[in-house]
Amino acid sequence: MAKVRAYTNIALIKYWGKSDLNWNLPTSSSIGLTLDRFYTDTSVEIDQFSKKDFFQLNGQQIEGPKISKIINFIRNSCGNKNFVKVISENHVPTSAGLASSASAFAALTKAASQAFGFELDNRELSKIARIGSGSASRSIFGGFSIWHKGQNKDDSFAESILDPVDFDIRVIDILADKRVKKISSSQGMQLAQTSPNYDSWLKKNDRQIDEMLKAISDHDLEKIGLIAETNSASMHELNRTAKIPFDYFTENTREIIAEVDQLYKKGILAFATVDAGPNVKVITNSEYQEKIINVLKEYGEILVQKPGRGVADV
Ligand code: PMV
Repeated sequence: MAKVRAYTNIALIKYWGKSDLNWNLPTSSSIGLTLDRFYTDTSVEIDQFSKKDFFQLNGQQIEGPKISKIINFIRNSCGNKNFVKVISENHVPTSAGLASSASAFAALTKAASQAFGFELDNRELSKIARIGSGSASRSIFGGFSIWHKGQNKDDSFAESILDPVDFDIRVIDILADKRVKKISSSQGMQLAQTSPNYDSWLKKNDRQIDEMLKAISDHDLEKIGLIAETNSASMHELNRTAKIPFDYFTENTREIIAEVDQLYKKGILAFATVDAGPNVKVITNSEYQEKIINVLKEYGEILVQKPGRGVADV
């Protein structure tokens, strides 16, 4: 039996579109920072007597087409016909744009390959985790990582940029809204790809990847924050210009972003980024975190995260 823990990661340059639905190939490369508070623990055990796979999430038996996809891929790759028992505990407020799928599929991929005795390096693991959820490819790694879009299922993988992170960076989650999101990330991406601005968004993303890599290598928190903030804003702008327009933002989201803008204007390093849900994450450092919390705590539960580590045994 293998038991593994993987952490969530926040996208600083977002993945927001697929060029291949089956293999989860992205239309653009993305950059993430793995964090240290939200995680998934998953154990996988080979069951020689069972006639089918068994999946359990947070104590409840579930059907999981994407879980099956990953298990089948690993089972076929190593020519093992046995079925498995997968037990998963998610320590993430699910479906509120907090990317539980990233930690879930990263943990599942490593645990399942270990259970089948399939020795893979992190790059190979990232390719398999990607099939379950694109962002999971980055959660294989600790600290900053990049997921190269690639051109086919074999060259679309993630790799480490900087781990451990040797400078001061914090991500503050404001859990203003814990409701389940109405539009999944997959649905959202498909709609966003109908926006007339999608091609220019892709070109801008390519430029931002280079800028972000430089900002990370310079340890320049202000640049990292500014690029991440612009990148997030343009992803959500795409959604509003889709053929069927939609928006993950709520009134709270807009108010919190306005507060973060005000803080930055007062000289505090604070930058907002939002994924496929209403909750805002603020990029900052330990020097400014208390000032930011004091302003934002009225909006909801606050959680401060530091850079986290990559997928590992527990
Ligand atoms: O990998 P998915 O399907 O969970 O989609 C992730 C989408 C975003 O969180 C909005 C962006 C990203 O790169 O993580």
